[in-house]
Amino acid sequence: MEFLKFSPTHSNEVNAIIVPVFEDYTPDFTISLEKDSLVLTSSKKHGFSGKKGESFDTFDSKSGKRILLIGLGKKGELDDERLRRSYSSAFGVLKSIPKGTVQVILPEVSSSEAKEVTFAIALTAYEFDKYRSEKSKIRVERVLITTKSNDTVIREAKAVADAVNYTRDIANLPPSVGTPSLFEKTAKKIAGVSVKAFDRKDFLKLGMGGLEGVSRAAKESAKLLILEYGPKDRKPILIVGKGITFDSGGISIKPSEGMDEMKFDKCGASAVLGTMKLISDLKLNKHVIGMTPLTENLPGGNAYKPGDILTHYNGVTSEVLSTDAEGRLVLADALSYGTKNYKPSEVIDLATLTGACVVALGSNYAGLMGNNDSLKNRVKKAADRSWERVWELPIDGDFQDQIKSKVADIKNTGGREGGAETAGAFLSRFVGDTPWVHLDIAGTAWTSKNGSNRAYLPAGATGYGVRLLYEFIKTE
Ligand code: BES
Ligand code: MN
Ligand code: ZN
Repeated sequence: MEFLKFSPTHSNEVNAIIVPVFEDYTPDFTISLEKDSLVLTSSKKHGFSGKKGESFDTFDSKSGKRILLIGLGKKGELDDERLRRSYSSAFGVLKSIPKGTVQVILPEVSSSEAKEVTFAIALTAYEFDKYRSEKSKIRVERVLITTKSNDTVIREAKAVADAVNYTRDIANLPPSVGTPSLFEKTAKKIAGVSVKAFDRKDFLKLGMGGLEGVSRAAKESAKLLILEYGPKDRKPILIVGKGITFDSGGISIKPSEGMDEMKFDKCGASAVLGTMKLISDLKLNKHVIGMTPLTENLPGGNAYKPGDILTHYNGVTSEVLSTDAEGRLVLADALSYGTKNYKPSEVIDLATLTGACVVALGSNYAGLMGNNDSLKNRVKKAADRSWERVWELPIDGDFQDQIKSKVADIKNTGGREGGAETAGAFLSRFVGDTPWVHLDIAGTAWTSKNGSNRAYLPAGATGYGVRLLYEFIKTE
């Protein structure tokens, strides 16, 4: 599907128009449309009043165009998210027009509206239909955005949405396909990014006991990928994503119900690939390192066991109480290797780390933890801009006490209480003084409810994190 800025020469090709209407205000375009078609008058007769969530779908026989009026509610209450949700639902109504060209009218025709609406529609047009014989019903081929701004914002928003959809495509892969080797192959195809790959031999040689332990019973060979982009003469930003390509829990095996969803335990790593691709596509002038510790977590005769003690890259030892708390063990090695060898200005990790975070914050907020107020604030700002929302959780001394071990430096679970925070406290031991933020994306990385309340988040991987990281990196 292509996105272009609308120009009057396109007029004859347009099959349908999305037109905004407020309860208490009528945008200019809507007024001029009314003069030609009386569409507003007839919509009023049929009970449409511009309330949020209402729509009126009609056909103008004079112009031969389908017209979809969408209610945006009160003008003063309009924000970016209402805009995204409204236009994404509207596109859902029109998506099956064969070879369709849809013209999109914006309330203020401003550049930020053009950006948000392009983004939302491009995300709505995503479906993971690779393994389905009934393919996606999206037939619209062109979306023409009517805006006063130039088309660079449209191109930027399309690139961001493409990167989110690319991330979704990787994260949605079945666990026997979306393997560490597949990640390596995919990463090596990203133009402008160099890729280093460590395997089990390297884990042993370098003393990465977490990656070594968790990957011991893996059938697919485990990898730690290091992607690098941009000018090397300045300190990099380091982003790290948890890449458990399937989390069975290992010897501390999970209940079988819902275990299929643990194919999504690679969403953090998928978002790192998507972000690296995006900053390279848009040629940001930033130095960025992306790291993805990748392995499946399986039981087996040679699997690591509860009671085992692992020594991580920085020498810290951890007692394994549950082989299902594997994410922190592999992240420990990635974080300590990355901070020591690349001396980044800051580190952000993304991980589907704890069920406790989902219980605490639900599916619209990621848990944010960290060791540096300035970095936390900058990440919160990027989260506000991208509507990939975060909520801070504490990881102070009491949580550190909770993970003290009698036989090792720390243990990999702190019990049921404060499960997201003890996991964050665990990770904090592997970044030293480097400013660091951890995002627990267990609740936000995928959705099982079709549509949720946002048409632009279809069931499956959401691609959470790509836009937030992009907004962060761009403004650093
Ligand atoms: N990948 C899971 C976390 C998870 C669970 C994400 C459910 C999304 C939905 C992680 O590896 C895990 O199993 N965590 C355990 C930790 C516990 C054993 C301390 C958990 O949350 O139960
Ligand atoms: Mn687990
Ligand atoms: Zn996991």
